[in-house]
Amino acid sequence: MGNLQGRDLLSLADLQPNEIQELLTLAQQLKAGEVKFDFQRKTLGLLFRKASTRTRVSFTVAMHQLGGHVIDLDPSVTQVSRGEPIQDTARVLDRYLDVLAIRTFEQAELETFAKFSKIPIINALSDLEHPCQVLADLLTVLENFGTLKGLTLTYLGDGNNMAHSLMIGCALVGMNVRIASPKNFTPDPAVVSQAKALATNSEVIVTDDPKLASQAAHVLYTDVWASMGQESEAEDRIPIFQPYQLNSELMALADRDAIALHCLPAHRGEEITDEVMEGDQSRIWDEAENRLHAQKALLASVL
Ligand code: CP
Ligand code: NVA
Repeated sequence: MGNLQGRDLLSLADLQPNEIQELLTLAQQLKAGEVKFDFQRKTLGLLFRKASTRTRVSFTVAMHQLGGHVIDLDPSVTQVSRGEPIQDTARVLDRYLDVLAIRTFEQAELETFAKFSKIPIINALSDLEHPCQVLADLLTVLENFGTLKGLTLTYLGDGNNMAHSLMIGCALVGMNVRIASPKNFTPDPAVVSQAKALATNSEVIVTDDPKLASQAAHVLYTDVWASMGQESEAEDRIPIFQPYQLNSELMALADRDAIALHCLPAHRGEEITDEVMEGDQSRIWDEAENRLHAQKALLASVL
């Protein structure tokens, strides 16, 4: 894998359509045990300012299985939490590490890290985007349908980081994407425009109608109604988001072979019902597993 070597992944839009396809192919080969890498002496740093189960563990296991090492740069035990400037931290970590995955609030912090370090910087979730999650999501869709082009993914809920990366990812691979969000919780208009510009053969639709958006869709996707950092708004959001709950009623409107996805963690009974999570159409556990395979492909490609 040459063309991604040394590159950052701050937004899914940093990737060309053929680069996403290549990553998904490599992820499938890694999952099938058809290819192996040996990154002895390579070190991945994890700098997470927000909680994480899947991203933290899947990156750690991925690097271990690739033969490399991981350092957890917990902000509370590094100088990061004491206000050492990012441009200084970035230039120092650059001298030790081979790749750095960061989970933070501001996209601008990721950009500063990328500006001041030569090693690849990977967005492990920001308020704006969650590109690694969407690589795993696309892998899951590809596994199920054998193709991506022409399929329709409907995202129900908050116009948040997941909605943004799904819009960009679907646009890049030729999938139609519909975002159904309550008024005042719609995706960032700049990201909607960006996705529309990237979608050469597919549609990007933003609506407040969850039923219309679910009609004949191949993938119904949801995420929490209050993201990390928005916990104080959680109670107030419940009645606003209730019509957007991923439940059997909306599943029934989708294509008969439709699958249900959720990036997790879920608030069962809020954005998704137990019935859908545990139902035959759920591919949520495969999706979580695919974080490992997709990120292994990503690490192998940038290293
Ligand atoms: N989906 C996801 O990123 O999960 P974590 O917050 O547990 O990493
Ligand atoms: N939108 C959620 C995604 C968690 C993986 C959040 O940012 O908290």
